[in-house]
Amino acid sequence: MKISKSEYARRRKQLMGMMDPNSIALIPAAHECTRSRDTEYPFRQDSDFLYLTGFNEPDAVLVLVPGRRHGQVILFCRDRDPEKELWNGYRSGPEGAVNEFGMDDAFPDGDIDEILPGLIEGKQHIYYSMGHNDAFDRRVMAWVNHIRSQIRTGAKPPGDFTDLAFLLHEQRLFKSAAELRLMRKAGEISAEAHCQAMRECQPDRFEYQLEGTIARTFAEHGARFPAYNSIVGSGANACVLHYVENRDKLRDGDLVLIDAGCEYEGYAADITRTFPVSGKFSPEQRALYDVVLKAQLAAIKKVKPGNTWNQPHDATVRVITRGLIDLGLLKGDEKELIKEGAYRDFYMHTAGHWLGMDVHDVGDYRIDGKWRQLEPGMVLTIEPGIYVSPNNTKVPKKWRGIGIRIEDDVAVTANGCEILTSDVPKNADEIEALMAS
Ligand code: GLY
Ligand code: MN
Ligand code: MN
Repeated sequence: MKISKSEYARRRKQLMGMMDPNSIALIPAAHECTRSRDTEYPFRQDSDFLYLTGFNEPDAVLVLVPGRRHGQVILFCRDRDPEKELWNGYRSGPEGAVNEFGMDDAFPDGDIDEILPGLIEGKQHIYYSMGHNDAFDRRVMAWVNHIRSQIRTGAKPPGDFTDLAFLLHEQRLFKSAAELRLMRKAGEISAEAHCQAMRECQPDRFEYQLEGTIARTFAEHGARFPAYNSIVGSGANACVLHYVENRDKLRDGDLVLIDAGCEYEGYAADITRTFPVSGKFSPEQRALYDVVLKAQLAAIKKVKPGNTWNQPHDATVRVITRGLIDLGLLKGDEKELIKEGAYRDFYMHTAGHWLGMDVHDVGDYRIDGKWRQLEPGMVLTIEPGIYVSPNNTKVPKKWRGIGIRIEDDVAVTANGCEILTSDVPKNADEIEALMAS
């Protein structure tokens, strides 16, 4: 179910087709990060690099040279080394990069200083995303400065640097059929994990135990890592948007908010569900929950080609403001309250973000200053919430400390949208039924 070799080749070809003819692109792989002393965090490849290669080793460099007769796609990577492989795992080496990953040419990373200036020399443009990797920025400048130092011998340094993101991130925004298959799978696995957390939830267990349930379910389905640190916040912890301590006891009568999604073959899912620890919503919890759900459903209805990015968000603002007025948490005229942004005391984020290889995926939200139109192949989250701070003395006590978010992943289709995460219930009655079973 992985991305095929030919799709990676198509992606590179599409990108090179948009590059200036007399140019070169440099895309570095990620570097391993130390966690403590001599142990590392689990390695996560750079998404741009992975998107173009499928190559999952650190410290490689992809070089694209459109029109180069001896091969347009070149990879610098770690050489084979039986001793290092015995200790730290397998390497493909340059030979594997060509044979298994479809590179035109590949060299050991140790040769890059010698070879790369020659590839850059004479090119008008370098496509490179400066400012994300200090060490690599300095190496790029050293290669260019090396060419500059040779000007008197006729060498021609590049005229300008262009951020590769303008081309590549626009390309990544539109998901192929194969990418959508992987994202569907990431959605299914994550949905199953949330169902399992609802089944295993009991008063007096701990937030970290539900985090464990989520992680175990991901791994059982081939997704070893979450796409972001799982959030399991019970009671007022749910009002902290990125609460990741996950250490408190689950108390009877509280809600618990879980925001967790797996990464499957490089693609993220991002689901939030909020449910009662005891299995039964209180009247206040249920009232606010139903407002959030109504807002989420109204927003999903707005996800279709031709609508603009802000329309789903605006729909959530209308429903949430109306709902807060009806329940007495806001007072005043609906239109005025929306204009003033009064809902922001309770709903302080936007309705969603692009989703893909990165959980907050790449791609512009505005074009020429205007919200962009939704188009088939785009994937986004829809995740409204209501969070009543435990310190909000402007509302009656019974509402304080309730935090609710409902989040699904939605792909724009030709006629509307497809929800990738619909296998986990979000209707309050359905949640209670699942928890009772
Ligand atoms: N899990 C982060 C977010 O929902 O944006
Ligand atoms: Mn989320
Ligand atoms: Mn999200």
